[in-house]
Amino acid sequence: MAGQKKLLRALAGEVLEVPPIWMMRQAGRYLPEYRATRGKAGDFLSLCYTPDLAAEVSLQPIRRYGFDAAILFADILLVPQALGADLWFVTGEGPRLSTITEQADFDALKPAAAIHDKLAPVYETVRILARDLSEETTLIGFAGAPWTVATYMIAGRGTPAQAPAHALREGNVALFEALLERITKATIEYLSAQIDAGAEVVKLFDSWAGSLKGEAFDKYALAPCREITQALKARHPGIPVIGFPRGAEEKYVGFAKATGVDCVALDQSVDADWAAANVQVDGCVQGNLAPEHMVTGGQALVDETRRIVKAFSNGPHIFNLGHGITPDADPENVQLMVDTVRGTARG
Ligand code: CP3
Repeated sequence: MAGQKKLLRALAGEVLEVPPIWMMRQAGRYLPEYRATRGKAGDFLSLCYTPDLAAEVSLQPIRRYGFDAAILFADILLVPQALGADLWFVTGEGPRLSTITEQADFDALKPAAAIHDKLAPVYETVRILARDLSEETTLIGFAGAPWTVATYMIAGRGTPAQAPAHALREGNVALFEALLERITKATIEYLSAQIDAGAEVVKLFDSWAGSLKGEAFDKYALAPCREITQALKARHPGIPVIGFPRGAEEKYVGFAKATGVDCVALDQSVDADWAAANVQVDGCVQGNLAPEHMVTGGQALVDETRRIVKAFSNGPHIFNLGHGITPDADPENVQLMVDTVRGTARG
């Protein structure tokens, strides 16, 4: 009975006694069982493309903590790879890709409809998870938002302040917009296939939305999110969408209404009381405990968790961190957060 799952109830606008909880990057290196499975797979991309092992690492945090949602194990950079970019990960440094700096680089990319060959193993992971998850646990699919994905495709790596992407947007807007449009179309195809395979919710990660200001935010963060959300809802009526325009600051206000997303994920820089008054008024919000508490723990973790639960207690809320948990986090602190959320009476 999908309608009974707590996470789906919150996304539909229900105010629950105890908010559902999951955690960004919940399958990851802070967990010894993740490190063991990753060791078996070899490298990170092999893990992403081996459905049995990818499903296994998605399930590990559910077994350990009983989270209300599992998130597909994959990466936002699989879409550029499926479009034809080279992708590899340098240990201790992060992702590397072939770059897009001129028209010829863009012309070499595949059309959006061609991504499924490469991404078929990801859909298989979704099918395994849909089959193996318990009745209470919601399955979340995801993709990177076009701007964030473009920042990696343009620079070939993560970059401070996303300077190469801003330079292309200012220096060759036609090429920049063509790239954004290609990623947008590919993302619709990709998320639609995840939904067909059994994803019950999808989330768009716009990790670098905060470096777009004013009109640029509206054009390159908000508008693509709206296009993707509307296309998915047209193809899959009722599918809930979570938007995460990280660092949006005051642009969080009205984001759900303008894009049609069912829930806005808040990063930790947003004050919970302010967000309750200005963002949660439009519907469900997710967040927003600082991930550092998973490293430091103690009474500060408990106090901060309680403060956030209370601040959002008058509206629909999904408890989460404000960004992904880091590899140096202590699994015991995650347990303390879960126990605090579930043991904190509302009202
Ligand atoms: O949340 C989950 O548990 C689901 C899986 C997931 C991963 N990446 C696995 C991963 C999700 C949702 C992502 C999203 C992602 N990937 C984002 C957006 C969210 C965010 O954190 O801002 C971005 C920007 C990426 C790109 C990416 N992938 C980077 C920059 C890195 C290297 C940095 C790092 O943490 O090492 C990755 C690698 C990555 N993606 C890991 C995991 C578990 C670590 C890989 C490993 O095991 O070595």
